[in-house]
Amino acid sequence: MNVIAFMGSPREGGNTELLLKEAIRGIGISGFNAHVFTLNTMTIMPCQNCGGCDETGICIYEDDMTQIYEAIRTCDRLILASPIFFSALSSQTKMMIDRCQAFWCEKYLLKKPIPPGPCGRKGLLLLVGGMKKEIGMQGMQCAERSARAFFRTVNVPEHKTLSYTGVDEKGAILKHPSALQDAFEAGKALVKG
Ligand SMILES: Cc1cc2nc3c(=O)[nH]c(=O)nc-3n(C[C@H](O)[C@H](O)[C@H](O)COP(=O)(O)O)c2cc1C
Repeated sequence: MNVIAFMGSPREGGNTELLLKEAIRGIGISGFNAHVFTLNTMTIMPCQNCGGCDETGICIYEDDMTQIYEAIRTCDRLILASPIFFSALSSQTKMMIDRCQAFWCEKYLLKKPIPPGPCGRKGLLLLVGGMKKEIGMQGMQCAERSARAFFRTVNVPEHKTLSYTGVDEKGAILKHPSALQDAFEAGKALVKG
């Protein structure tokens, strides 16, 4: 099973990465590997809305998205992991997502969704935010909406979401009563069957 993951936080060893690592540990224990794209270290230009992909489904710009397009097209499982920044996905994550407009054109204009492989396509969304209560939840809801649009655009019809509010300082997720175990189990479940 071909598993890819997008690490959308710029903070190395931060809460998003810790959570993602646990999910990948769950995947590993099930006998699979995940290829991780650390978005903050990649060269990804923001979408220019140039219309270049409208009739072809192919982005006219060449940067690190070229390898990401190929990985998204051929994966069976996809993990998106992001912190909440200003009640939304991180800009690193969103820039990658916006460039998937090429897949949107391919799916919805050209009526050619990415074909699923024999084990289908499933997703896992991991979100971490520092704020608590209602304001924290609002950030999660905004991020969930964008992530959901992304998953459906790249023809991932179902995804599970794990979101944690009130997790702010670096490493705070380690003190959460269930987050790491949840992520480990979600990783295992993602590649099951
Ligand atoms: C630029 C910026 C904006 C943030 N905005 C929010 C926010 O709107 N809501 C929230 O819950 N947390 C917000 N946070 C806090 C982060 O989501 C939180 O620190 C998170 O644990 C970071 O994850 P990381 O360690 O993986 O980078 C913000 C942090 C930064 C740096």
